[in-house]
Amino acid sequence: MTRYVTWKPAYSVGHATLDEQHRQILDTINDLYNALDQGDDRRTLDRLLKRLVQYTKTHFALEESVMRECGYPDLKSHQQLHESLRQKTIGLQEHATLVTGHDLLGFLKEWWLTHIQEEDQRYSPYLTASVAP
Ligand SMILES: [Fe+2]
Ligand SMILES: [Fe+2]
Repeated sequence: MTRYVTWKPAYSVGHATLDEQHRQILDTINDLYNALDQGDDRRTLDRLLKRLVQYTKTHFALEESVMRECGYPDLKSHQQLHESLRQKTIGLQEHATLVTGHDLLGFLKEWWLTHIQEEDQRYSPYLTASVAP
């Protein structure tokens, strides 16, 4: 399987489950890349996009509750980022027929890597501080 996007230890937010969910989200984007590369049918793409939307939902819910627990001060603006990312991902799922596979992957890669690499990193120090002895 070709890896289109790769999770790196530098992306760790210091929470095993959240890191695992980030890996699953990126792996789903890799599965989409491979499905498109192999010319898989529409139904496979739909199934993978649906899975991505489902992971997004579960992941955002857990991440927001973890941020709340550790007293992250920018929870509200992070929730808005999630809402925007959720809507963009659902929009892709709903209008997948209107974009090329190349564009679809490009959007997913950019949105998700930016979120995981930059925006999620901002709550990481609070999380680490809250579990420190
Ligand atoms: Fe995240
Ligand atoms: Fe996030």
